[in-house]
Amino acid sequence: MEDAFIVQGGKALKGEVSLSGAKNVALKVAIAALLFDTPVTFKNIPHIKDVTELLSLLESLGVKSTFNNNELMIDPTGLTNDKVDLLHGSKTRVSFMLFAPLLHRFGTALIPNPGGCRIGARPIDRHIKMLESFGVTVVYDSSTGYYHAKTNGNKLMGTNFRFEKPTHTGTELAILMATLCPGISRIENVAQEPEIDDLINFLNSSGGQIKRVGHAIEINGVDRLKYSGAPYQIMNDRSEAPTLAVFALATKGDIFIKGATEKDLHFFIEAVRNIGGGVEIGETGIRFYYDKPLVATDITTRPHPGFMTDWQAPWAVLMTQAKGESTIHETVFEDRFGYVAELKKLGARIEYFTPEQSNIDYQFSMDDTINNKAHHQAIRISGPTLLHNGVLEVKDLRAGATVLIAALVAQGESVVNGVSIIDRGYETIDKKLGLLGAELKRV
Ligand code: EPZ
Repeated sequence: MEDAFIVQGGKALKGEVSLSGAKNVALKVAIAALLFDTPVTFKNIPHIKDVTELLSLLESLGVKSTFNNNELMIDPTGLTNDKVDLLHGSKTRVSFMLFAPLLHRFGTALIPNPGGCRIGARPIDRHIKMLESFGVTVVYDSSTGYYHAKTNGNKLMGTNFRFEKPTHTGTELAILMATLCPGISRIENVAQEPEIDDLINFLNSSGGQIKRVGHAIEINGVDRLKYSGAPYQIMNDRSEAPTLAVFALATKGDIFIKGATEKDLHFFIEAVRNIGGGVEIGETGIRFYYDKPLVATDITTRPHPGFMTDWQAPWAVLMTQAKGESTIHETVFEDRFGYVAELKKLGARIEYFTPEQSNIDYQFSMDDTINNKAHHQAIRISGPTLLHNGVLEVKDLRAGATVLIAALVAQGESVVNGVSIIDRGYETIDKKLGLLGAELKRV
């Protein structure tokens, strides 16, 4: 296998497609299951590489699981190993969330520097400070690339902690830490993403006592979590929906996305209407369709409830087809334009620029801007451009979907290399696109 798609572009994509379960919930509830002392089952879990890689990591710790037809059973009773091996740990960004169950179970945890997409430094300094507030000692051994965490033999106790800047997975790790800690923990300046609420709902369905209080979360620690016995159904993927919508709009098509909800996509829907895209919100999903020539607009990504950072890469392809000059200002990750060079191979007219930054609250720490390109937190796109075919490389998950959309927009045959990265976060993407009339072959 070449790990590539051969794509015949230039066709409008039309039809109905169903959303998969949310990758960024599936990964967290699988780890949360290790806080239980009995098996736990979930529904609507997407069959994607990030999930199967995580299950393989959990198996290396002694945790058995079964995963069929989007139903996942995790049996935490076999957990016997407090060390995540480098191979498994380097393959997924969420491996560091295992600090919580390993520290609760063993009082120690050895976890390598997290892997995941290459969209910036993605340090975990905020997570470490939060762990230390629970009385955990964390030492990073740069000679091995491992974090050594331990509770110093004391029982983990609740804490009051304030994140200096919100972090999505940092907030989730704090919840996993506090859920089984005696006493009330109050975590301030937490992230607002809905995926976190799904994790909270799951834990509360099993006896957890967790609630949002404004921009804080209060957790009343319990002795143990008691699985309700009913499989927990996770939410649909809030990053997949806009990607599929852009597949339709950019190819002048018309698709109905079953399972998409207005509440999770508010700012995306507003932006689509703003550029002249067609949107019809139905009972069971949302229809996105090409209605008239698209016009350019300016987007700034923000943490929830703003225009999500995961949506900006696919959005960029759409802007190459819109009339006028558009801009995308990325404020969450410091290096998330890996797709720009690929789109320019197809003739896209895109340039970096440094926007007026005085009043922007960037979510990354400025000393993580890894090179002068990262200072260009924005791109300017001129359109419309007739994209021609090319050979494209996938840089990261969302950029992968972006180059695939571009190949489907471009006239002629294109090759997209590195599609296993797309498989990390999009369930059977080639099957779904085939249902919409796309001509692509996995080789
Ligand atoms: C989660 O990443 C998601 N990943 C991302 O989805 C999503 O884009 C992001 O949240 C925003 O919603 C998962 O849930 C697995 P952050 P996360 O911590 O938690 C910096 C996808 O494509 N930061 O809120 O890593 C960080 O570098 C992925 O599905 C620190 O500097 O995001 C980033 O610039 C991509 N130090 C910013 O904050 C820290 O200790 C926001 O990161 C933590 C974060």
